[in-house]
Amino acid sequence: MADIPALKWLREAGVDEIAGDTPRDFFAESAIAKQAAIDAKSKGSVNAPKKDVAQRKPILQSASTSIQSNTTQANSGFMDNSSNYAGLSETIESARKLAEAANNLDELRKAVEGFDGCSLKKTANKTVFCDGNPETKVMLIGEAPGADEDRQGIPFCGMSGQLLDKVLKSIGLDRESGFYITNTIFWRPPGNRKPTPEELAICKPFLEKHIALVAPKILLLVGATAVQAILQDNSSMSKLRSKQFKYKNDYMDADTEVMVTYHPSYLMRSPLNKRLAWEDMLLFEERIKNLG
Ligand code: URA
Repeated sequence: MADIPALKWLREAGVDEIAGDTPRDFFAESAIAKQAAIDAKSKGSVNAPKKDVAQRKPILQSASTSIQSNTTQANSGFMDNSSNYAGLSETIESARKLAEAANNLDELRKAVEGFDGCSLKKTANKTVFCDGNPETKVMLIGEAPGADEDRQGIPFCGMSGQLLDKVLKSIGLDRESGFYITNTIFWRPPGNRKPTPEELAICKPFLEKHIALVAPKILLLVGATAVQAILQDNSSMSKLRSKQFKYKNDYMDADTEVMVTYHPSYLMRSPLNKRLAWEDMLLFEERIKNLG
């Protein structure tokens, strides 16, 4: 009973959940935010990307390659020191330049494969870029490749991917004719840990250009990491699901609709929530129908 005032105080301060769906590294997040503020102050808007999304060249199936040495792209030197935030800005800038120069999905895939600025590439076997059909205008974004994806170079090809495919099949969507899929980052984090805020920031220009080139009518963000990367919202999935969002980045000409749902790995750990994922899918199906 003595704890009730303390709980009330927390509630009033906005703490209305005991724990989120996923752990967060507040130290790394604040370091990134500080660096972003410094960059914004020193550079103004000099680096605003051009809105030159050229015609898309469709690709139908997954494209991935084994990682060999890359000699054609500049390595900013960030790979060996992930706490070097000056290096971080340069690395993000070099990713932005490469992303900006890509005029279609094929060029973007090559740019990602040739980019050496993300240290995850050092320990990964394959660059995992995409799977599915970009012509469907339904785009899914997950977190990061796991062990199976790293072996095969295809997003969501392991156990969690099988569950995801099942969930989507329940509303008649498959990779060949129903959706296109990628992740927030392109290389497997060792031990399947969550991508760090730095890794997400480095890959973000590629992710943004990826979305712009696919130009989806609707985006489904699968799991908290994708939500944080795209919507910059750290709220729990239970608060965000079933809501409708709009998303646009500097490479895009128009907004796209966004929905969020649980990550299949989370559903595997918490099967009771499959019921909620099913509700999300029904809503997703309805929204796709309404898009025409
Ligand atoms: N989990 C993800 O978020 N992406 C994958 O590609 C595989 C597992």
